[in-house]
Amino acid sequence: MVNRDTEQQLALDQLQGDILVGLQKEAQLFVGFAIADVTKFKRFLSAIPLTTGREALLAEDRILAARANGGTGKLDIRGINIAFSAQGLKKLGVPNVDNIKDKSFLAGLAAQSAKLNDPPDGPGAVKNWLLGNGVGELDGLLIITGRGRPEVQATMADLDQSAGSGTWIPFFTEIGTTRPGAEHGHEHFGYLDGVSQPAVRGRIDQIFPAKKFLNPGQNPADPNQGLPGADLHWPGEFVFGYAEQDKTDVEHPLGPKDGGLPWMKNGSFMVFRRLEQLVPEFHATAKAKAEALGGVDPDVLEARMVGRFRSGSPISLSDVDNPALGGNELKNNDFDFGGKDLDGLKCPYAGHIRKAYPRNDVTPAATGATQEAKEKSSEANTQTHRIMRRGIPFGPEVGPVENAKNQTQHSRGLMFVCYQTSIQDQFEFITRNWINNPDFAIPKAGFDPILGQAEGSNRQRSFTGGPPNSPSGKPPTVTLEADFIRPTGGGYFFMPSIHAIHTVLTQ
Ligand code: HEM
Repeated sequence: MVNRDTEQQLALDQLQGDILVGLQKEAQLFVGFAIADVTKFKRFLSAIPLTTGREALLAEDRILAARANGGTGKLDIRGINIAFSAQGLKKLGVPNVDNIKDKSFLAGLAAQSAKLNDPPDGPGAVKNWLLGNGVGELDGLLIITGRGRPEVQATMADLDQSAGSGTWIPFFTEIGTTRPGAEHGHEHFGYLDGVSQPAVRGRIDQIFPAKKFLNPGQNPADPNQGLPGADLHWPGEFVFGYAEQDKTDVEHPLGPKDGGLPWMKNGSFMVFRRLEQLVPEFHATAKAKAEALGGVDPDVLEARMVGRFRSGSPISLSDVDNPALGGNELKNNDFDFGGKDLDGLKCPYAGHIRKAYPRNDVTPAATGATQEAKEKSSEANTQTHRIMRRGIPFGPEVGPVENAKNQTQHSRGLMFVCYQTSIQDQFEFITRNWINNPDFAIPKAGFDPILGQAEGSNRQRSFTGGPPNSPSGKPPTVTLEADFIRPTGGGYFFMPSIHAIHTVLTQ
């Protein structure tokens, strides 16, 4: 058992706030920019009031305190973080950028897009993306968070003014917002998002003596978890300069994780994908497929595609949507697949959450003779393929005409953001080896029905996992003719520490 008192201190004053804590946001402005004048930009960059991990944690406390005091209004909390592409770092004159170990970061998302099975034609094709389409314009991404559109726009106006003319070209700006009313916290398909996140080891008691750990243990039955079901990870999985996971032993730290250049310490790779969601098409298809399966409940079929019901309640724990379970962070993540659901009767192997994080399912990394040994070894390896997700929806709510025609007319979806210390082994590994691999975790599991992409122009894909109570008696295979999610822009970035920004990036 790990003596948690020996865990490293996390340098919250050095870390940008979005990485381990998450910036508080009802609205988030994404600014894709090019550097116009290096000298002016460096001056501007050194003056940007970047939000640190400590500030983000303090803001979280303020929100919790206000809620505890019966407050219902939204506090005016603002955040700013910044990240750079390999090209941006080079433009700033940072030495030896090509020594960065992650070759996917150096290549950039546009170059990697085909390997993620992004469509070769149409709006999802990299050549048609709204940003980061490979013509070399994206030097960095600035994110601004706040309680609403006016606040993030005002922050941007202040920043742009302080930049002065001819400093940068903020050529892509788009605001994501949380959804209104009862849909708050849900993504556009209707499902509660941000439920399951990896827990992170590390002490914070020099800054918050009363808190001691960023993710305190909250599961008396398992000291290797933060919230029940959220396995603790060594911080080097998400931030450079800290111990990382051992592929064979979750309790044993390796490291410290080295990105290739010493100043990468306390920094993290950021993947940004603007993912459009075809919402009416998704629901209409689920309805038609549910009917074709002999009249099963389309909501159940959808839940099986996701792995959770709309409220967040996991289908592994409940056969019906159970909002009390979905909203309870002590329970909504406390489940495993291996050993308990080998036939995928509760949660299909293809279900989005089982594909994206197979927990203790047996994977090709398994060692040992018994089922238990295989699950344990697989799980230790799986923990080296986690990501810290920080997305926010964008675009308007679905309107009546779109609903009536079952056809998307307005661009909407998820500004997908995740942090990790290896784009290759984390974001790309999950996408290529699991989500888009029809034979993971078992042969013929099929594609992740919401996110999976088949290679090439024929986008048809199938998954095994209709409700087992349909006439076949087993989870039937369902064929999907088209994608429901398509990439429309993005990039691979590095989010440096505050120290690196004030030294190596601005010297
Ligand atoms: C529009 C795109 C997407 C939608 C609508 C979506 C939706 C969801 C939903 C509803 C959940 C369950 C709630 C939760 O645990 O937070 C979830 C979980 C998750 N998603 Fe996605 N997602 C999208 C894109 C992605 C991408 C691009 C990845 C990574 C390649 C990803 C990886 C994950 C992971 C790792 C989990 C947590 C699984 C777990 O720990 O149980 N998602 N997603």
